[in-house]
Amino acid sequence: MNVADPAALAARYARNLPRYTSYPTAAQFTDAVGPDDARDWLRAVPAGDALSLYLHVPFCDTLCRFCGCNTAVLRSADARAAYAALLIEELRRITRQLGTGHRLSHLQWGGGTPTTLPVGTLRQVMQTIRNSFTLLPDAEISIEIDPRHLPAHYPAVLHELGFNRASLGVQDINPAVQEACGRIQSLEQTTECIDALRGAGIDSINIDLIYGLPRQNVQGVRDTAAAIAALSPDRLAVFGYAHVPWKQKRQNLMPTGELPDATARFEQRAAINDALCAAGYLPVGLDHYSRPDDRMGIAARDGTLHRNFQGYTTDPATVLIGVGASAISSYPQGMTQNAVSSAAYARLMGETPDGLPVVRGVRRTMDDRLRAEIIERLMCDMGIDLDAFTMRHGLPQDSFDDDLRKLSGLEADGFVIISGRRLRVTEEGRVFLRHVAAAFDRHLDMDMPQRHASGV
Ligand SMILES: C[S@@+](CC[C@H](N)C(=O)[O-])C[C@H]1O[C@@H](n2cnc3c(N)ncnc32)[C@H](O)[C@@H]1O
Ligand code: SF4
Repeated sequence: MNVADPAALAARYARNLPRYTSYPTAAQFTDAVGPDDARDWLRAVPAGDALSLYLHVPFCDTLCRFCGCNTAVLRSADARAAYAALLIEELRRITRQLGTGHRLSHLQWGGGTPTTLPVGTLRQVMQTIRNSFTLLPDAEISIEIDPRHLPAHYPAVLHELGFNRASLGVQDINPAVQEACGRIQSLEQTTECIDALRGAGIDSINIDLIYGLPRQNVQGVRDTAAAIAALSPDRLAVFGYAHVPWKQKRQNLMPTGELPDATARFEQRAAINDALCAAGYLPVGLDHYSRPDDRMGIAARDGTLHRNFQGYTTDPATVLIGVGASAISSYPQGMTQNAVSSAAYARLMGETPDGLPVVRGVRRTMDDRLRAEIIERLMCDMGIDLDAFTMRHGLPQDSFDDDLRKLSGLEADGFVIISGRRLRVTEEGRVFLRHVAAAFDRHLDMDMPQRHASGV
């Protein structure tokens, strides 16, 4: 196979695959796991372990047509404040099971757009968290921000509340692409937002870009990457547009006839990669870029990078507690997800005085735990030594040989190098990390192919 031929690669590898932010993936969640499991798993969390906390706010100021997230515009500030009150109540129910005083190494607010919460209510939730947990002095405290709608007083409030990282959506700076996506955002707006955050003391800035959107082309995404790199964000996430209209109907409002095909997606991804590497960024895992001196770049080099529902992280916590509508929690025993819509979440919270609003999840078998570790290391380190892995876990020496054999095509194409039972993904193979991970996914064949987005 000619690796310089994007059309041939696209034809061969354009397969719908999970993003492997967890294993088993969310496609395996069923209602066989519910609030009782969540309660038991919370109770079993050892007192000394540092935890990670995620709070989800499913509201935005306006909706972007490309967005795959479950969000809505809620005009009433009272209704948004009522949602924040539910977050506080869920935190109370969680700490009732977990106990108070657990150490927190990461605290992340995502959405949607969490800054749609009125400042007073954000303050109250943060106070509840500080009363219930012990935030470690070097904890990463981050929030997702829409640069078009950040209220002027917000950056100072975020700094006062302890936030030290902000993640900003940009996607593409080309007006024709923005028009197709229903998201008009000038480069000045983005620059001013970054300046305001840095001016207030929020030093760490992450920016999200997307390729594969309608009307995007190689020159356009290269220009976007170069212009954004010139703003010196500490990290970037570069996502392939996930076209999932069966899940998110508003994506059909875009001119879908102008979506780039798989070949064009390959080329766009490569162009962004080249522009960011030329600007001094280090590729991290499947889709992140980091300044070499940023914690994430250092973790990628050290082999201490991790992957969870929020993507790549430097957080080593083995327990992630998700709070709010649709939030997912992860424990060694399994994963749980809260009711997805804010209405269903509010209804469940109202049904019992102490119940957790969990609707589905999955238990992890011992085989799942082992595969989760292999997949996480592959997605983070781009390689694994299966001899060392099986020895460390006391497994038979030929464990995972069947899975290894599934990589012969990727090996023939030069995307993985297998020596003995040591596996390494090449730089050219980085774009196929999900395909490599999929070889170790025992559940994949049982999935409906339409449940995932394009793997390239
Ligand atoms: C939950 S949004 C939060 C950011 C913030 N609300 C904003 O828009 O600026 C996080 C990121 O998800 C990414 N995203 C949303 N929908 C996507 C899709 N369909 N495919 C790929 N990435 C997507 C975008 O890059 C977006 O910035
Ligand atoms: S991209 Fe951000 S602002 Fe746009 S709909 Fe999604 S979460 Fe909301």
